[in-house]
Amino acid sequence: MADATSVLHISPVIPVVTIDDPRHAVPVARALAAGGVGIIELTLRTQSALESLELIANEVPEILVGAGTILTPAQAEASVSAGAQFLVSPGVTPSLLDHMLSLSIPILPGVATVGEVMAGLERGLTEMKFFPAGPAGGPRYLAAIGAPIPHVQFCPTGGISLATAPSYLALPNVSCIGGSWLTPRAAIENEDWARITNLAHDTAGLRAEATLS
Ligand code: 3PG
Repeated sequence: MADATSVLHISPVIPVVTIDDPRHAVPVARALAAGGVGIIELTLRTQSALESLELIANEVPEILVGAGTILTPAQAEASVSAGAQFLVSPGVTPSLLDHMLSLSIPILPGVATVGEVMAGLERGLTEMKFFPAGPAGGPRYLAAIGAPIPHVQFCPTGGISLATAPSYLALPNVSCIGGSWLTPRAAIENEDWARITNLAHDTAGLRAEATLS
């Protein structure tokens, strides 16, 4: 089983994917994999999200699939039952954190303040989602958190694009970023899998680019 550190190193970008029609789940996952992206955060924002999650977990073994938008312990549990290999939440409460920790799979709880980062550290977590990255302060804010707390690695998500990704990935406390731009709703509805593969492919060099600049 992957740990949270390896989850953050599979791809420079974790695609945050929302699927309405479960028939699209497997083609979307395969299109991302064809573009070199081996991970998906599938959001629980649609009625059929768990069905899509299960289909990807069963039929696309080359992709590590996690559940995103976890708001409640029940959602965390249902996601694990459906085959989620990691869990992502936009924020945390003490009871949600307890519950996610009890499930024995990697978790990326959402944080946006220094106090929340410290609360995660108290629970032994050193990998977290920074959300909503852009509105919360962007790369400068994350760099400032890294001064007193250099040993936490973040996956900033929210308001990031291909153009702004390098400024996050250049930070020593950022292992990868998250974003929904790899799977535009229109591309999914039009079953334009080539577009998704191209968008995934465009992210392949991001980490190296950020290191060089
Ligand atoms: C998330 O849940 O992480 C965000 O909705 C993704 O943010 P984005 O749509 O701005 O990439």
